[in-house]
Amino acid sequence: MNNLQPSYKTLAMRIIRHRKSLKYITWKRIFNLLKLLRDIKLRRVSVDSFPIFARINTCSICNIMCPGCQIYDDKTGRKKYFRPKGIMEIDTYKKIIDSLKDSLLQVVLYDEGEPLLNKRIWEMVKYANRNRLRTVISSNLSFKMSDEFIAQLFESGLDYLIVALDGITQETYEKHRQGGDVELVKSNFERIMMYRRKLAKKTKLEVEVQFIEFDFNTHEKSSVVDYAARHGADSVNAFLSYTEEFSDTRSLQGKSRREFGCFDVYAIADFDVDGSLFVCDLQEDCGVDSIGKIQDCSFVTMWNGPEMKSIRCSFQTPGKYEMNSICLECPITRGLPLPLR
Ligand SMILES: C[S@@+](CC[C@H](N)C(=O)[O-])C[C@H]1O[C@@H](n2cnc3c(N)ncnc32)[C@H](O)[C@@H]1O
Ligand code: SF4
Repeated sequence: MNNLQPSYKTLAMRIIRHRKSLKYITWKRIFNLLKLLRDIKLRRVSVDSFPIFARINTCSICNIMCPGCQIYDDKTGRKKYFRPKGIMEIDTYKKIIDSLKDSLLQVVLYDEGEPLLNKRIWEMVKYANRNRLRTVISSNLSFKMSDEFIAQLFESGLDYLIVALDGITQETYEKHRQGGDVELVKSNFERIMMYRRKLAKKTKLEVEVQFIEFDFNTHEKSSVVDYAARHGADSVNAFLSYTEEFSDTRSLQGKSRREFGCFDVYAIADFDVDGSLFVCDLQEDCGVDSIGKIQDCSFVTMWNGPEMKSIRCSFQTPGKYEMNSICLECPITRGLPLPLR
């Protein structure tokens, strides 16, 4: 089998998953997509396509603490959080959107942290929406929300909201969502669904309930699924916590990993709260230096800068270069449940 196929397969899977973003397609974006296909096919080191997906961390602080999350401060020191903690400035965000609006299909406005703690989040969604970009947010919803806040959510034009609900009872829920209040989450979720029913066809918002599965909450999975359906959620996405999976050996290494290639180094721009661009989430989690900051440098300079080129080199087949050590360990190809990647 042609060893270039897996990257195309990944691309196809992601486009299918995010197919609703195609409703915002423009000729410029189609043209970019074609160039991207060529860059992936040729495994070009220096590219002339731009990413089609962006993950922008709009807030890296959180109101609760989940041990499975990268942001969790592990007092034993087993886990180290390398990223800056804070809230993204609106100007930094606009600069990212302005740089990439002709290529992007979708913007994910969260990473590690609670995006709805950013007071300007609805302005950010609106800005992306005005630039005809699909927007996605995931939230724990475990905080008090005013009616005005809910109205703003709808006015912003948000396309997709993921509601994290890892249990139906407080006892189970708080085992992972430490400091969270399940009744508050449910009440906020129900208010959002009620508001949506009132707006009927005047809103495009889709709501997904997300259930991260651990040994301790499996027994409540069906209750969460029933509850979500009863209140009109569009889908439920249940998947295993990666803390349970990570103990497993990672399968694709060395030669196979290189042959599989990497979709992210061509198609995804990953920005942290301070405007730093990273190769991908994993490199960011491992404390690798950023490629640069959008405030200091144009996107195209960073995207074809020496760091990006060196990582793309390591995926060339046959390999003339050593593979980047973090890429060698990357578990993405095992279908790690990162649904919006
Ligand atoms: C870190 S959260 C941030 C957004 C928001 N605060 C929330 O909790 O949904 C973003 C995503 O990380 C993933 N995530 C967090 N903890 C996880 C875990 N233990 N296992 C798998 N995925 C996890 C989930 O897909 C979640 O939607
Ligand atoms: S609510 Fe989200 S950001 Fe906050 S600790 Fe949990 S997973 Fe991480």
